[in-house]
Amino acid sequence: MYIESPRYTERFGSVRINDVQKVVALDSGLKSEIPPYGAMGVIKISEETIKSFEDKMAIVIPNKNEKLKLFEGVVSGVPHDCLVIVVSNSQREDIDRFRMEKDTLNQMCRYTYRQAFIIHQKDTLVAEAMKHAGYSKLLDENGLIRDGKAEGMVIGLLMAKLAEKEYVGFVDADNYSPGAILEYVRNYAAGFSMANSPYAMVRILWHYKPKFSGGLYFKKWGRVSETTNRCFNSLVSFRTSFETNIIKTGNAGEHAMSLKLAELLPYASGYAVEPQELISIFEQFGGTLPSSHIDVMKHGVELFQIETRNPHLHEEKGLDHLQEMLLGGLSTVYHSPLCDNETKQLILSQLTSQKALKSKQKPPKPYLNPPPCEIDIQKFVKFIEPHVKNYSALQE
Ligand code: GDP
Ligand code: CO
Repeated sequence: MYIESPRYTERFGSVRINDVQKVVALDSGLKSEIPPYGAMGVIKISEETIKSFEDKMAIVIPNKNEKLKLFEGVVSGVPHDCLVIVVSNSQREDIDRFRMEKDTLNQMCRYTYRQAFIIHQKDTLVAEAMKHAGYSKLLDENGLIRDGKAEGMVIGLLMAKLAEKEYVGFVDADNYSPGAILEYVRNYAAGFSMANSPYAMVRILWHYKPKFSGGLYFKKWGRVSETTNRCFNSLVSFRTSFETNIIKTGNAGEHAMSLKLAELLPYASGYAVEPQELISIFEQFGGTLPSSHIDVMKHGVELFQIETRNPHLHEEKGLDHLQEMLLGGLSTVYHSPLCDNETKQLILSQLTSQKALKSKQKPPKPYLNPPPCEIDIQKFVKFIEPHVKNYSALQE
């Protein structure tokens, strides 16, 4: 593929935030020659490079009762060399939707001879393994893993670790376009191939997010993402004393990380998860607060924001959903020890004017599932390993 080279980079302590890089062309051919770096500000990322990163990557698909056709399309879009890990919290009683997802995945894996895992979020064995490893904050009062996408992401992360992958990427199951999924994963690979640090994150910025209202309108910025980014940038500007609008993917649901970085971050429940990852990176490695990770400070953390070619077409879930997303995202910024008073005031005024909070209310503190590095990951792996076949989609 051809992608814009990172032309502008902002620093926040040891975090390097690259400005948005657009995908120039989805394919760069086998033969075309381009000087390796710098030609017209465009980088060629060869097919070989992309494949070598896909091979080291697990793709986690969190799924809760999404339409089976959408789920199937999403799986079909994930490049073959990636390990697919489905973490489902779909219903099992009455109509067993999880069973249907499992059958669909099994069939696809048999046809295309690929490996995949599928795990139910309420699986008792996985819950026991978490408890054994010291991850009781992930469990509810019945000893099962709590509901939520973030909690599903943690399961996916640990399974990626078990499979000895180096990178983990996330794609939602409610996407209408398999071709977009293919592109997201290739963009993840492209980002990692440009990274100079083993601690790297790639966040996707959608080219357009079409809206259907009579006709089709290719909307670029939603109100939620615009507001979230504005508050993020206010926090960064205040801390660095230079006004900036570098953050353009505060809410990015589609993102990927090196496992080395993923292990160090907490996972906030609800819609706070992706913004919290960013805030935690700033807290831990931004240089303002003390860091306990000397190795990370030495290498630095690299953030890439990559703008896709494909539009983002997913299930629209209504206004309540948008307000929850706004509240979830901004609560992570508000409650960060890095957040200054001006940014706090901006957050409160945005939340009240957009009716996500009543006046004088404060945003609730996000619930943080602790970073995987704080538990004994090897204990989890050892506990699950003998049973791993139960979760494998490619069963003989
Ligand atoms: P949005 O796209 O960020 O607005 O949020 P969605 O509601 O579409 O959720 C994102 C993804 O997470 C979708 O694929 C959902 O099916 C999935 N999801 C939502 N809740 C849960 C959950 O409790 N567990 C798991 N494993 N996945 C979930
Ligand atoms: Co969605």
